[in-house]
Amino acid sequence: MAIPRETVEQILQAARIEEVVGEFVTLKKRGSNMWGNCPFHNEKTPSFSVNPARNIFKCFGCGKAGDSAKFLMEHEHFSYPEALRYLAKKYNIKIEEKEQTAEEIMQQSIREKMFNINEFADKYFVDTLWNTDEGKTIGLQYFRERGYFDPIIQKFHLGYSPAEWDAFTKHAKQNGYSEELLEQIGLSIKGQKGLYDRYHGRVMFPIHSLTGRVIGFGGRILVNDKKSPKYQNSPESEIYDKKQTLYGIYFAKNAIAKQDECILVEGYFDVLRMHQIGIENVVASSGTSLTMEQIRLVKRYTKNITMLYDGDAAGIHAALRGTDMILSEGMNVRVVVLPPEHDPDTFGKEFSVEYVSNYLKDNAKDFVRFKTELLLKDAQNDPIKRGQVIRDIVETISVIPDSIFRITYVKECSRLLDMPEQTLTNELNKILRVKFKKSLGVEDNVVNETETATVTTPKQDETIEDQLPAGYYQERELVKLLLMYGQTTINDERIDEDGQKVYEQVTVAQFIIDDLKNDGFSFTNAVNRKIFDIFDHAIDEGRIPDDQFFTSNEDETIAQLAVDLLSSPYKLDQWEKYGIFVKQEENVLRATVLSSIYRYKDLIIEERRKVVEEELKTTEDMDDQLILLKRKKDLDDIRKQINKELGIVIAR
Ligand code: GTP
Ligand code: MN
Repeated sequence: MAIPRETVEQILQAARIEEVVGEFVTLKKRGSNMWGNCPFHNEKTPSFSVNPARNIFKCFGCGKAGDSAKFLMEHEHFSYPEALRYLAKKYNIKIEEKEQTAEEIMQQSIREKMFNINEFADKYFVDTLWNTDEGKTIGLQYFRERGYFDPIIQKFHLGYSPAEWDAFTKHAKQNGYSEELLEQIGLSIKGQKGLYDRYHGRVMFPIHSLTGRVIGFGGRILVNDKKSPKYQNSPESEIYDKKQTLYGIYFAKNAIAKQDECILVEGYFDVLRMHQIGIENVVASSGTSLTMEQIRLVKRYTKNITMLYDGDAAGIHAALRGTDMILSEGMNVRVVVLPPEHDPDTFGKEFSVEYVSNYLKDNAKDFVRFKTELLLKDAQNDPIKRGQVIRDIVETISVIPDSIFRITYVKECSRLLDMPEQTLTNELNKILRVKFKKSLGVEDNVVNETETATVTTPKQDETIEDQLPAGYYQERELVKLLLMYGQTTINDERIDEDGQKVYEQVTVAQFIIDDLKNDGFSFTNAVNRKIFDIFDHAIDEGRIPDDQFFTSNEDETIAQLAVDLLSSPYKLDQWEKYGIFVKQEENVLRATVLSSIYRYKDLIIEERRKVVEEELKTTEDMDDQLILLKRKKDLDDIRKQINKELGIVIAR
């Protein structure tokens, strides 16, 4: 049930980051922060810092950062509500569950009913397997013949659905479950003669959620019937979202975290077999191609995925399909290809655990090696195909977010392909540039409705990091000021109607937002703009959010940015350190804010001016030229004004 917003705030405020982290990491005070060895990556010298004043943690080694709740989500693999409940308990805060709306109650009760009927069905299938003649002689016999032992059949709640057309449906109806629900959850199907069992005559695999509730089923046919599919699976429902589900995750999650690796297979039986031989960090994508959501699910536990696929062509292609998506999440992918006649199920049946473990160890190939070797084999000595291979592989490398890994892979590929590193790097940069521009087109286009800041074409020798949009750093600086000093008041100097200077106390947030808005500016980067909008809205309501509102924000991108900005040193801190801040606190802050605003505007105007100049070069029409010249002069005037004011601010 939902935790009320106020309680969430109360919990996050009560939680002391140093106490929460302190339960898991040994911290030592150094300066205003506390330091320890990072629990999220291996290190010998501490780069993991806790900032009690801001109530956040940040690791300068691996980049993980956030508030108390985030720490628990990362470290304990809690969901957000689980983390909050943990904190509430630790700090003795009572959670009054929120009154739900009628619709929420309805929705809740539909989900509850669905979980209930699935649990009921699960019990029925298991009971039928173990305790009926048909179940024992057909279902149980089938599992045993395939070499599965009772403990694994029990652990995974495998079951049997009788061959009779509507045995389960009848049983469920007798126990008070409605036809509507049976059909909705997909256990029954409506036919001409009424409802019948979707899974009649199949062995059953319940599909468990992360927390172990039954959200759906898969049923395998036992007879050779060309008209029926080998597997019947539950349709999607309020509780079963296929793209978010991995078969076996409930049983595998602890092993995945402990071994810091997730082995990905295709089928139900592959998961069972691996568990039976004692390899438990295994989940299945269930035949469909891997989704981003499934990858993120794994990422909660580990960054390392090993794909273990059939040795046939189809298996190899399936392996290729998922890799780019995994890489783009910043995860490491390795691929193990089995001998052609095997899938993980048969392989695990034929060989001992030692043999299988060693095979995995010896044959796990980094995906770049895997893909390069595979494609090269296809291309052989065909130069056109070789060109294709190179582009294909460089494309794959380009999705990796970490530039250091990209460089490593380029080196590796240059060796494998026997090509100069520089050639591959050039090819890679070309692709990155296109991607970068595309990302700007989507995310960073708005400055003002009529005029758009453009990015000049990067020169050959510039790195991607140099090609950030105009005003990027200035924008970040303003966001940082908003986050750090948004609630602090400064003197605003205004000229009133009679031409008199008047002074007014305003918050830094209002000062910045109003000033930018008056000139038709907003931020260009998407996350920055979200923060801008939040402040804009808050000012209207007369309530400026504090930094915790942002570091604990439910929007991950906002929380991440806030933590990053608030945990890196800033020049105001420097002034504080040298004692300048003490006396003239307000003046310094005001000057900093003003100069940040001016610098930002100056840059944006300069960009617009460049655009106008470009247009001037290409325009033949006299009238258009005049308009452009006028616009250029206006922009120049604004710049002059800005620079004058900037000069004054800095001189003070
Ligand atoms: P066995 O053939 O009994 O060893 O099963 P398996 O689990 O190894 O299946 P296979 O490797 O053929 O397929 C992998 C996965 O794809 C299965 O576990 C199912 O999740 C899914 N799948 C396979 N066949 C079908 C089908 O006919 N329909 C649907 N919906 N899914 C299927
Ligand atoms: Mn199989």
